[in-house]
Amino acid sequence: MTDIDKSKLSWDEWDELQNPPPAETDFDRIVEAAVSRRGFLGGVLAFGSAAAAMGTLGNLLNSTSARAQEAASRFPFKPVPIATDSTIHVPEGYSWRPLAKWGQPLFSNVPDIDPANGVSVENSDKVFGENTDGMELFAIGGKQVIAVNHEYVNNKANLPKNDKGMPKSADDVKILQNMQGVTVMEVVEGENGWEIVLDSPFNRRITHLTPMKISGPAAGSDLLKTEADPNGTDCLGTFNNCGAGRTPWGTYLTCEENFNGYFGSTDPTFAMPDDYKRYGISAETRYGYEAFDPRFDVSKNPNEPRRAGYIVEIDPSDASSTPIKRTALGRIKHENAAVVIARDGRVVVYMGDDERGEFLYKYVSNGIYVPGGDTSKLLDEGTLYVAKFSDDGNGEWLALTLETTGMKMDEIYVFTRQAASKVGATTMDRPEWVAVNPVAIEAYCALTNNSRRGEVKDGKLRTNAGGDEMTVGGPNPREKNEYGQIVRWYPDNEDHAGGNFKWDLFVMAGNPDVHKGGAYAGSSNINSGNMFNSPDGMMFDTTGLLWIQTDGEDSNEGEFLGQGNNQMLAGDPATGRIERFLTGPKGAEVTGVTWSADKRTMFVGIQHPDAPFPDGEGKLPRSTVIAIKRDDNALIG
Ligand code: FEO
Ligand code: CA
Ligand code: CA
Ligand code: CA
Repeated sequence: MTDIDKSKLSWDEWDELQNPPPAETDFDRIVEAAVSRRGFLGGVLAFGSAAAAMGTLGNLLNSTSARAQEAASRFPFKPVPIATDSTIHVPEGYSWRPLAKWGQPLFSNVPDIDPANGVSVENSDKVFGENTDGMELFAIGGKQVIAVNHEYVNNKANLPKNDKGMPKSADDVKILQNMQGVTVMEVVEGENGWEIVLDSPFNRRITHLTPMKISGPAAGSDLLKTEADPNGTDCLGTFNNCGAGRTPWGTYLTCEENFNGYFGSTDPTFAMPDDYKRYGISAETRYGYEAFDPRFDVSKNPNEPRRAGYIVEIDPSDASSTPIKRTALGRIKHENAAVVIARDGRVVVYMGDDERGEFLYKYVSNGIYVPGGDTSKLLDEGTLYVAKFSDDGNGEWLALTLETTGMKMDEIYVFTRQAASKVGATTMDRPEWVAVNPVAIEAYCALTNNSRRGEVKDGKLRTNAGGDEMTVGGPNPREKNEYGQIVRWYPDNEDHAGGNFKWDLFVMAGNPDVHKGGAYAGSSNINSGNMFNSPDGMMFDTTGLLWIQTDGEDSNEGEFLGQGNNQMLAGDPATGRIERFLTGPKGAEVTGVTWSADKRTMFVGIQHPDAPFPDGEGKLPRSTVIAIKRDDNALIG
């Protein structure tokens, strides 16, 4: 290849030089090709081939050498081994302490949670909610404010006196409704570390009962009208707030994931509308709201669940502001929202729909972002796309429009999954968080696992809830995928708003101790010392290091032997190197990460520990946001 002018090659030509097309395509070859296409040919070369795709090889090779050098110092920590105990482990030279725990007061006249009785109904919207998830820190006029999600509740933990924690009154339902949603809280670093600023004017709970506006193409649709809201523009509450995102104009995006679980029917004869099936809305629920709050009874309010499943924009700087449901971003089981500004100033939002065989989406605004300008329509007016991946490393974004779907505009934004099925999107292995690299034009999505990929049942390949087959191939190369992978894409012309991309796998998780070789051993950047399963939360720090959090099987047995508790790792995009930074307590998922304004503290979320945490023996297991610092107070992201 030495006498070829590489800068003149198309991406395809370059790729052929690297990976001559296989004579036959079999399972192992697909896996091998997906991982090695660009990923693990060595750091510089790996990045160089992506650069060739963009026609800027020389420039990027230069900057890549600098990146490779920098990469050597990318892991200033000594990686931690796996753990199976009920506490946190961070590397030598780092320390952690709790910042905010489930049931902890946000206001000074409110007591801490009572383990025997939980939180009273009066105080249930004045404390930190349960099951912390995605979060973002905002620096607002010299103050630091964290907005953080509370994904769901464990009924029994919040209603400890009730059998199985099922609500027995409207007040019980209200407690559960208030312990979820979002907390906005001011935090400050004092003598004893980080603390919540009690009674701060920023402090606020947003719950299943908070008034919000509906905006965008589905606002006012007949599909969203209810008796209480004949206009289809005003609703109550945000649900199952999973991952998050932030806009460049300083707002928080909270993402409604498994919203279906809150809506049930008290009338067993009620005929469930056809569109419910795709989203998993069924007559029975585990929360029991419908028995005491008719809003959640679909036999009385069949449109109510169609008012959930959106991304909600919240202004953390004003505790009296009304959150806005942005229907232009589609109605799916939203994981998170990764926002990036395209070359021409348009706003791009990448979004995963976390369910087996569902899709990866992208929104592109019509207008451009102008700092200090009017941003009120940027998340209302635009185009929604869904990803289609080819086995050859190419991909395209398929627009969801009247023409491509044959659906009306409001239908596209309320029945988004159905619209995406019509255009032939690629069924994915449960898209969790998307993260956009701040120092390179590329994005990543954690595909957490998919035990049914490629499975044949009753002579038929398994499908998603819409009947789309979960074929083995492309970025989902393994059948019965228990370990998960991270797909990465490089937008053509370095333009996140564009229609085409190239892709590869940044990592395929696996277990090289249990599987000696083959796809389930994982990609070549997985070894006995860093292995994990089920990547989920994912966020870049400002230096371009990718932080990966897991929500997987923590039995430490069988297929998962040697992987221990859920954990957080750091990955280097330039080299593919991955090292374990933190291990969580038994039973917990590690989810949500953000940084203090000075980047000397990293905040990490610990969700649903199953043994006493963080206060030790005899105390409650409490979902907790922790603050991690280096003992020398150096930068940490
Ligand atoms: Fe709430 Fe898909 O994680
Ligand atoms: Ca998640
Ligand atoms: Ca979870
Ligand atoms: Ca998960």
